[in-house]
This record gives sequence, C-alpha cells and structure tokens, in this order.
Amino acid sequence: MTASLSKDSTGEPTEAPLVEVKDLKVHFPITRGVIFDKVIGFVKAVDGVDLSIPRGKTYGLVGESGCGKSTLGRAILQLTPSTGGTVTFDGTPITSLGPGKLREMRRRMQMIFQDPLSSLDPRQNVESILVEGLAAHGIGANRDERRKRVAETLDAVGLPRWALSRYPHEFSGGQRQRIGIARALVLGPDLIVADEPVSALDVSIQAQVINLLEDLQDQLNLTYLVIAHDLAVVRHIADVVGVMYLGALVEEASSDDLYVQPLHPYTRALMSAVPVPDPDVEDQRERILLAGDLPSPANPPRGCRFHTRCPWAQPTKCVDERPVLRVITGTSDTHRVACHWAEDIQSGVLQPHDVRAELVKPASDGEISIPEVLDPTAFDPHF
Ligand SMILES: Nc1ncnc2c1ncn2[C@@H]1O[C@H](COP(=O)(O)OP(=O)(O)OP(=O)(O)O)[C@@H](O)[C@H]1O
Ligand code: SF4
Ligand SMILES: [Mg+2]
Repeated sequence: MTASLSKDSTGEPTEAPLVEVKDLKVHFPITRGVIFDKVIGFVKAVDGVDLSIPRGKTYGLVGESGCGKSTLGRAILQLTPSTGGTVTFDGTPITSLGPGKLREMRRRMQMIFQDPLSSLDPRQNVESILVEGLAAHGIGANRDERRKRVAETLDAVGLPRWALSRYPHEFSGGQRQRIGIARALVLGPDLIVADEPVSALDVSIQAQVINLLEDLQDQLNLTYLVIAHDLAVVRHIADVVGVMYLGALVEEASSDDLYVQPLHPYTRALMSAVPVPDPDVEDQRERILLAGDLPSPANPPRGCRFHTRCPWAQPTKCVDERPVLRVITGTSDTHRVACHWAEDIQSGVLQPHDVRAELVKPASDGEISIPEVLDPTAFDPHF
C-alpha cells in the first residue's frame, strides 16, 4: 500500500506525501462516424495507478514506449483530465477542483518536457518566456520585481544574464533545457514533473542537466516525478522507482532495492537489457528477451496484462485474475509487485517456460548460449 512509503526506516510515520494518486484512470475515447462521432472503444492509457511521492523526493517512472508514462504525468497535473480515481496534492483533491482553483494550484505543479525547442515559443525571447508565467499567475507586484525574479532564476539554472534578450534557437540543446527548467522554476513550484528531461540531449550534457535538477532539489526542497526510458538516469536520480506496463504499475521499490532485486518478470526483462560495465558480470548474468510488442492499450490482455509475454505465466490464474500491487513476503515493506507468483519466481520454485519469449542463460564457459525454446508442449500461451 502507498502508506508504506510514508514511513521512515524505523517504521515511524512521516509527514503526508506531497502527491497521492489513487486508482487513477485516463481512458481516451476511440470514435468513428461520418456525421456523428460514435464511441467504439477506449484507449486505456492509464488504468488504475496508485502511487505517492514524499515531499522533497524523486519518483522515477519507467516503462516501454506507449505504456502511459506521459499520460500519467499529465494526469497528475490534471493537464489531461482523468477518467477516474483521485490525485491529492498537498492535501487537496485536485481531481475535483474547478478550472479556477486548479489554475491557482497549477503554479505549484510544473512540467519540464523532453524536447525543449518544441516546447518553447520560437517568437519569444527568454525574458518574455519567463515573465509570461509570472504575469499569468499574478506573481510580482511590478515589472522590476518580475525582472529581479527572472534574473535570480537564470542564475539558479546557470544561464548568463545576456540570455534574457536571446531566442530559443540561439541556444544549444542543454541550454534550452535550462530555459525549460527556468520556466518551471520561476513560478516557485513544489512539484516538477519532468517528462524525459534528458532524452533529447547528448550524453555529455545529460549529466549536467541531471546534476542541475539534483542541486535545485537540494536548495529548494523540490519534489520530482521523473519519467525516463533510460534506467540508468532513473537509478541515478530517483529515490523510488515505479515500473509501468500497459497503463499500470507492475513494481515499485526504492531505487536501490529495485536495481539489486527486481522481482516482477517485466522488470527483470528490462534490467537484463541494461549492459553492466564489468565484463565478467556481464557474461554470467541472465538475459530475458521479451517477445512481441506491447499489446494495444485499446484491447489489453485480461488477467495479468503481462501474461502474453511473461516467461513465468501460469494457467489459469495469470489469465483470469489481474494481480494487485502488493508487498512481497521477505522483502522491504516499500517493495511492491503486481505478480501472483512473485515469491515462487524469486525462490526458483517456478521456472520460466514461455514459448513466445526467449530466455538466454549464460553457458558454463561464459559464452551466451543460443536461445532455447523451452518445451513448447509444456505451456500453451493461449490457454
Ligand atoms: N490524446 C490522446 N488520445 C488518444 N490516445 C492517446 C492520447 N495520448 C496518448 N494516447 C495513447 O495512450 C497510450 C499511452 O501514451 P503515452 O504517450 O502516455 O505513452 P508513453 O509511455 O509516454 O510513451 P513514450 O515513451 O513513447 O513517450 C498510447 O497508446 C498513446 O497512443
Ligand atoms: S502474474 Fe503471471 S503473467 Fe503476470 S507477471 Fe506474474 S507470472 Fe507473469
Ligand atoms: Mg511519453
């Protein structure tokens, strides 16, 4: 349960999390029709997410392209309206706020985007981009006060004052992302949702931007939701990591626990794809190659949504029952996994036997063996 994340290491309760999400759903209607649009189905981009983000901490969200990460981030800020469930921000259920109150609240919840160039208006100089938000939220009594605040924000993100009169295209990618961060920061937010904040940047620049985000968090006690497909980025920056698959969380743990002991088969597959710098470890470790693409969120598999690709899927529970995110016996009480068989998979009682996914295990001489098809008669993925 989310409450476990609001206990400290001694089990003592801590202050309420800044963000609490309960059973959040975002279903986009699929319409068809020549004159009148008829709803013929729904894309279930987010379909029952529970999470909480403690104040001053970073929640990292990872998962395959199309699994619903951006939609979840936008729904937490209510930039995309939710279909069901609640988002509570600093004690206020924002999912039931009217547009006026929500707008007021939004000053405290800002977003940083993947592509800084397309998210910055090319016709506005940096000063105008930064002042625009202040004016919209009525921050600063006069022009001088706003200019002072803008100048301080530029300093905080490491941009020179001359940047104020320049336009976005005059900057490098890393500098543009600093402008994007400044635009969020100038409003004095408590929460920043950063959607793939460094994916569009050169590797050499990524570390600078990540370090800047960490420094700003320390100075300003910011709370982050960082969305990334790069597991290394998330490991570096996040206190808690949530792994998303087809609109729902399948695993959530502290960053250290998750990377040392991934328990959900999907997380294990994701982790096994990340190269390890030590060649001996790299040669010896298990690889799980997932077969097939992410199923359509318009028609998700029933039961466990991962069962069509899971090398450990068991008849018939995996197809019949959707597993809930739960604390697994013998692990930390902040490590939650949505898998019926997590204990048996972890202990080795259950062995992988999927005919559709390939399991590559190191051979005894350290060579990677040819993927074996594990007794195709033992398991019918279409049971
Ligand atoms: N406005 C929309 N209308 C209809 N479907 C949408 C809309 N926005 C997103 N989707 C669908 O919702 C699903 C989740 O999309 P989303 O962009 O949240 O995924 P993502 O995990 O952020 O992917 P990526 O890693 O590629 O950014 C996708 O199937 C996408 O096509
Ligand atoms: S519930 Fe079944 S299909 Fe889902 S991850 Fe666990 S073993 Fe695999
Ligand atoms: Mg996205």
